[in-house]
Amino acid sequence: MSDLRLSRSQAAALQELNASRPVKVIAVTGGKGGVGKTTVSANLAVSIAAQGREVMLLDADLGMANVDVLLGVHARYHLGHVLRGECAIEDVIVTGPHGLQIVPAASGIKQMANLSAAEHAGIIRAFSDLYHNVDVLVVDTAAGLHESVLTFSQAAHHVLVVVCDEPASITDAYALIKVLSREHGVQRFQILANHTRRSGEGPQLYQKILRVCDRFLNVSLEFAGSVPYDDYLRRAVQRQAAVVDAYPSSISSTALKNLAVKADKWTVPQGARGHLEFFVERMVGARIGPETVLQ
Ligand SMILES: Nc1ncnc2c1ncn2[C@@H]1O[C@H](COP(=O)(O)OP(=O)(O)OP(=O)(O)O)[C@@H](O)[C@H]1O
Ligand SMILES: [Mg+2]
Repeated sequence: MSDLRLSRSQAAALQELNASRPVKVIAVTGGKGGVGKTTVSANLAVSIAAQGREVMLLDADLGMANVDVLLGVHARYHLGHVLRGECAIEDVIVTGPHGLQIVPAASGIKQMANLSAAEHAGIIRAFSDLYHNVDVLVVDTAAGLHESVLTFSQAAHHVLVVVCDEPASITDAYALIKVLSREHGVQRFQILANHTRRSGEGPQLYQKILRVCDRFLNVSLEFAGSVPYDDYLRRAVQRQAAVVDAYPSSISSTALKNLAVKADKWTVPQGARGHLEFFVERMVGARIGPETVLQ
């Protein structure tokens, strides 16, 4: 573990200082596997960090984690160690590009993909004990309608749904929006079209989803933009780097950086919403007294 660990009183004082700063939490999801959730999460987090914000990226694809591999960072510990009580959440954090703080998960550990609801809640609550400075938390979720996807999405302020123009992606995105809205009280969604191959494809894809959601669900959707299919993105993966850093003027980089500028303007709702949330204490906004002094 790190030699730079804070004493209990320092950690408590920092936690109190940060308590007045609400953290914007963005869950990146999509229903279908392979639509680009991790690519979008990692590049969105790196781009917001490059804009000077304090950003944390949580790999919430708990059994098949790959954020660390994608960004070329070495993770010694992961959330599995936290759940087993072997270390605290701050011990698993690794630093990525532009000071991005990455919370890695395990890969290939079956029981991590099948945690109980209480264990998911435990992970979310553990964030409230962090004394780190965080402006934005980006959460990369797993594929499908797994309970972890629903819990982490519900605990976020903004749900970014990544879709491709394929029938299975559209159907899965719709299914996810339906379950999140009907069973988890999530009413607002941002739709991001990925892998687009011509101009106009993203807005058309958004319209398709909007039509069916308007007809059957009580939700509000916004179009977050389009990320074109880009070979540079694949090359960046080979280099284990974010495309926004490795090929900053590529077409996918431009689109992902535009998304980051947009996401930076999304607001954080005030007050707790009555269900499990990340950083809920900071939402409530504890007051900082003059006695808050680092020892
Ligand atoms: N815009 C794009 N252009 C080219 N390749 C892309 C694009 N977006 C994603 N990819 C590639 O598609 C593959 C799947 O992407 P990614 O791992 O981000 O998807 P995912 O939704 O996180 O998958 P999973 O459901 O398995 O977690 C990767 O090889 C990635 O490099
Ligand atoms: Mg993924």
